[in-house]
Amino acid sequence: MPQTILVLDFGSQYTQVIARRIREANVYSRVIPYNTPLSEIKKFKPIGIVLSGGPASVLIKGSPKPNVGIFNLGIPVLGICYGLQLMAKMLGGKVEKSSLREYGRGKLVIIKKGALFKDLPDELTVWNSHGDGLTNIPKGFRSVARTENSNFAAIEEPKKKFYGLQFHPEVEHSQKGSEIIKNFLFSVCGCKADWDMEDFVNVAVEQIRSQVGTNHVILGLSGGVDSSVAASLIHKAIGKQLTCIFVDNGLLRLHEREEVKKLFRDHIPGKLKVSLAGSLFLKRLKGVTNPETKRKIIGKTFIEVFDKEVKKLGKVDFLAQGTLYPDVIESVPIGGNPAAMIKSHHNVGGLPKKMKLKLLEPLRELFKDEVRDLGRSLGLPENVLMRHPFPGPGLGVRVIGDINQNRLRVLKEADAIFIEELKLAKWYFKLWQAFCVFLPVRSVGVMGDERTYENVISLRAVTSSDAMTADWAKLPDSLLRKVSNRIINEVKGANRVVYDISSKPPSTIEWE
Ligand code: XMP
Repeated sequence: MPQTILVLDFGSQYTQVIARRIREANVYSRVIPYNTPLSEIKKFKPIGIVLSGGPASVLIKGSPKPNVGIFNLGIPVLGICYGLQLMAKMLGGKVEKSSLREYGRGKLVIIKKGALFKDLPDELTVWNSHGDGLTNIPKGFRSVARTENSNFAAIEEPKKKFYGLQFHPEVEHSQKGSEIIKNFLFSVCGCKADWDMEDFVNVAVEQIRSQVGTNHVILGLSGGVDSSVAASLIHKAIGKQLTCIFVDNGLLRLHEREEVKKLFRDHIPGKLKVSLAGSLFLKRLKGVTNPETKRKIIGKTFIEVFDKEVKKLGKVDFLAQGTLYPDVIESVPIGGNPAAMIKSHHNVGGLPKKMKLKLLEPLRELFKDEVRDLGRSLGLPENVLMRHPFPGPGLGVRVIGDINQNRLRVLKEADAIFIEELKLAKWYFKLWQAFCVFLPVRSVGVMGDERTYENVISLRAVTSSDAMTADWAKLPDSLLRKVSNRIINEVKGANRVVYDISSKPPSTIEWE
């Protein structure tokens, strides 16, 4: 086992970001629920503990508390936000409701450069998010930084190696936040930076084996990064106990099914079932033009087809999903506080409930770029790992209006040309997403001496870091010209190409 830092989760939306910052420093970290028994905590043999933030208030009776024994393990403890207030209160300090709540950016003035602020400037911009404040610190502690509203923005008890930060060093807006965390890891805990993604693979393989035992697992493979990496990792752990199911819904990109099969042949030598269901999906979508109705039909039909395939397999116990941290469902739901439920989202909506399967989600602590790194450690090819996201309803929401085979063909051919040219021009990897949209609008053109009356293709290419906001990409004229010429010349059924110059918001990335 690598050296371990435990992060006790009190329900903050940033708990996993703390773990990520620790991993970035090449130190192994595990996030565990705040109320994990002391005996379990000891089994990890941690060399340091971080108490996360959280939505609760230590002033409320019954607010979440860890076992007090964590302060007697003889290892360093770092409390962040709620974690700081909790540590201070449990060790004899005083927390009160502040009249001056601190949310957002603030200025931190460092009074004493103890271990946490070693080699850092005297003033830092930090990010706060708290209503309560520390008004008295426990015996043995001293204040090492203050803000305008608090004299105890950072405290320490250097003998016992207890540290507390009222702000969030883990978020990007906190200046030198990663350095503060590194100081805790290396100067306080004495970590060795002995962990990397290869180790994640080994630990995850062990965890999957112990969770699954001799049971059978199914995984809905989409061909995207997340499900491919999950499939590869789970296959490494349990081999033949995993069956992947790929549903061809007829709404995939050109040659997508063949590419998924090739990925399996070359890199994941496990069981793959391919379900050809395109005609069923298209039959149900006939005449449907409303985007949300399309989504519902596609989602429901997917579950039906998937369920049928699973029934053919006999006894199945687990459903594996490539859920990542940003998709993740719940933070720890504390005391029914709705603020603790951050986001509810499942890759395969509704499946687990309907099928009464246990969930296996080995990527749920990771962020997208970490999943890509993990995929590299597993030997998956770059063209799979760096693929643009593709929506679950596929081309169903990129053929505007009524969907039929011919429209899908035009869209697939045009899209393949656009992507090929973006890759040749080395633009593909600079973009969050790029694709074509089929517009059910016909316009007049002239080819040779012939008049044409065909459909319009819109090109969409956006830059973004998380799809919450996006900007249209300033692609070079020469590239746009080439793509437009090729589509109009090579794709029968399209005689006009337009470029979408809308940002998100107010537009969305997809057209439907
Ligand atoms: P929008 O269009 O909302 O898209 O700006 C943001 C991101 O989400 C993807 N997207 C979907 N993904 N099912 C999915 O799995 C959907 O119904 C869906 N709609 C949009 C979109 O491709 C973009 O990355």
